Amino acid sequence: MDNTSQILLRSAELLAGQRLLLVNPVADELTRELPGDWHVWTWDYSAFLGLRGRLPEHQLSFSHLCPAVEGLEGAILVMPKAIERAEYALAQMAPLLAAGCPLYLVGEKKGGITRAEKLLAGLGDGAEKLDSARHCQLWRTQVKGDAPAFRLEDWQQQIDLDFPDQKVQLTSLPGVFSHGRLDEGSALLLEEMAPLPAGKVLDFGCGAGVLSLVLARRNPGCRFELVDIDALALYCARQTLDQHDVDAQVYPSDGLSDVHGRFAAVVSNPPFHTGVRHDTSIAERFFNAVARNLLPRGELRIVANGFLKYPPLIEAHIGPCRVLRENSRFKVYSAVAPG
Ligand SMILES: C[S@@+](CC[C@H](N)C(=O)[O-])C[C@H]1O[C@@H](n2cnc3c(N)ncnc32)[C@H](O)[C@@H]1O
Repeated sequence: MDNTSQILLRSAELLAGQRLLLVNPVADELTRELPGDWHVWTWDYSAFLGLRGRLPEHQLSFSHLCPAVEGLEGAILVMPKAIERAEYALAQMAPLLAAGCPLYLVGEKKGGITRAEKLLAGLGDGAEKLDSARHCQLWRTQVKGDAPAFRLEDWQQQIDLDFPDQKVQLTSLPGVFSHGRLDEGSALLLEEMAPLPAGKVLDFGCGAGVLSLVLARRNPGCRFELVDIDALALYCARQTLDQHDVDAQVYPSDGLSDVHGRFAAVVSNPPFHTGVRHDTSIAERFFNAVARNLLPRGELRIVANGFLKYPPLIEAHIGPCRVLRENSRFKVYSAVAPG
């Protein structure tokens, strides 16, 4: 079981048997080992898939919005990687709790839980550290019961971007990749004007949808499918496309788990760089799998950090790999599947 779940289990006497909202959990056995009336909100599709068999459907929500669960006796947030995502979640959780109800924050020390006191301040009268074990901490505040109703529009950002051929506006939410700006790698990929092959195009790891939006307007013969693991990214991508009347399909997928059929092209600023320079194992699995989703003569076009040794992997699984664009940090690669 994950460390965050283990530290919660150590506080079973506080939690067992209660009607609890659990937000952003790891997909493990916690909700079985700690019996209670659990209601789980996750924005992570991989966690959703992992928990699907463990909880009744109406107690598990995969969404950009917190489910409106009534009669809660407490709520727990497992600290997300991005602090602004924690703020976004807490702003939705606090209004669901009556005055005096506990709001817990649990997380790994290296995952930012040390900011718990600051995050919980203002939602209750002070925050107390209940436990510290297994590199994790568990914090609690008792909410004041006066949290303002959550308004999505207060958290949503509109980002104006200028390209040589078009101006666009992206919708973004806290913790969505490159929130508030255009990533340098994505910008380089979009500098490439070579047309994509006509037909279905998969945008893997779509984020707020910038690649599909710009490329769809340049390639009227293409129909885009956008996938991401993050419910907030999917919501933003949908909004971004709708605002510009781009007709496309947007759906969750963990890797290529929910992607079916073959595509004329796959575009991506792929997520699988872990920070470990030589670890290309996730990338390799992706190139191997995506080859099955490309039509004969289908194109894979991706951008990646220049130091990542992707070309031999791309060539092993798809076909000859060309560098379409490069700068001091990024390279845009293109490979065409055999005919
Ligand atoms: C580098 S960002 C690119 C976002 C967007 N395409 C852009 O260019 O701004 C990678 C995206 O992949 C998503 N992602 C991470 N792991 C994933 C997975 N296992 N399956 C699908 N998407 C994933 C992330 O949520 C993120 O939005």
